[in-house]
Amino acid sequence: MITSVKEILNKAKEGGYAVGAFNTTNMETTRAIIEAAKEMRSPVIIQMTEKTLEYAGGRAIFNLVKNIAEFYAPEIPVGIHLDHGKSLEIINRCVNIGFPSVMYDGSRKSYADNLLLTKNVVGVCHPKDICVQGELGSVPYIGETEMGEIDWDKYMTDPAQAADFAKQTGIDALAVAIGNAHGFFKERAIPDYDRLEAIHKLVDLPLILHGASDWENGKVKEVIARGICCFNVDTATRLAFVNSLAGAFKDQHNLSFDIRKLLGDAQEEVKNTVMKKMGYFGSGGKA
Ligand code: G3H
Ligand code: 13P
Ligand code: ZN
Repeated sequence: MITSVKEILNKAKEGGYAVGAFNTTNMETTRAIIEAAKEMRSPVIIQMTEKTLEYAGGRAIFNLVKNIAEFYAPEIPVGIHLDHGKSLEIINRCVNIGFPSVMYDGSRKSYADNLLLTKNVVGVCHPKDICVQGELGSVPYIGETEMGEIDWDKYMTDPAQAADFAKQTGIDALAVAIGNAHGFFKERAIPDYDRLEAIHKLVDLPLILHGASDWENGKVKEVIARGICCFNVDTATRLAFVNSLAGAFKDQHNLSFDIRKLLGDAQEEVKNTVMKKMGYFGSGGKA
């Protein structure tokens, strides 16, 4: 059942567990996420980026996700969300398509600009009952910075600023930077748990951790205990998909030309990855 992202996040926050927000780009990944959620009886968020909307067509991928969720898992709460919307144009496009939840990512802008633009997005979205996630501090990407030593202080969320940001913008959820990074990228050896605790004390909102593909169970539990109630995962499922295809192509003699076999096997690997993550997050059985 398509369910408000705000409701999914707040239930997780109250219940002391986290949900996964998994990125999709196509039918196979979407089915893998939905089937994993169904098997685990787990609420789930399925999200798309601007690049995916360009690739698949915004309405096409939105309706694909919606139809697959409604048809295959009517009993499972499924949230649909725009991930990392970086302009008002993409937010408006998603509002017109019917997205019930968006992220406005102003994390690369000055504090004043991020605040103002996020506030504008909330002003557009809330009257239409669309949930808004903001980001403060910034979660680095591969390619954006050297792979060597990172000056993590430049990226971290400031707790007092986060409280001001949440209050002034009226956002429904906040993405935080505590040493996490996108992709299989050198993260801070130990996340800044104290900082997260301080944010959690000052900001009474669901807190989101981006870049969770390489987060193992131990770290996951530590941050759930300090207020994280949603983990964003993309790279891990992409890798599962691509590794499955790469494995099939290695064995040229037995290579199937049935695309459904190749992509079906890849789908299965993505499903296994999603189920493993849901196990870490503690969302199984919560649907
Ligand atoms: O953080 C989000 C994604 O991993 C980046 O994905 O290549 O679809 O923009 P993208
Ligand atoms: P990873 O690709 O590191 O899992 O990050 C995903 C993400 O943060 C999507 O917003
Ligand atoms: Zn992200």
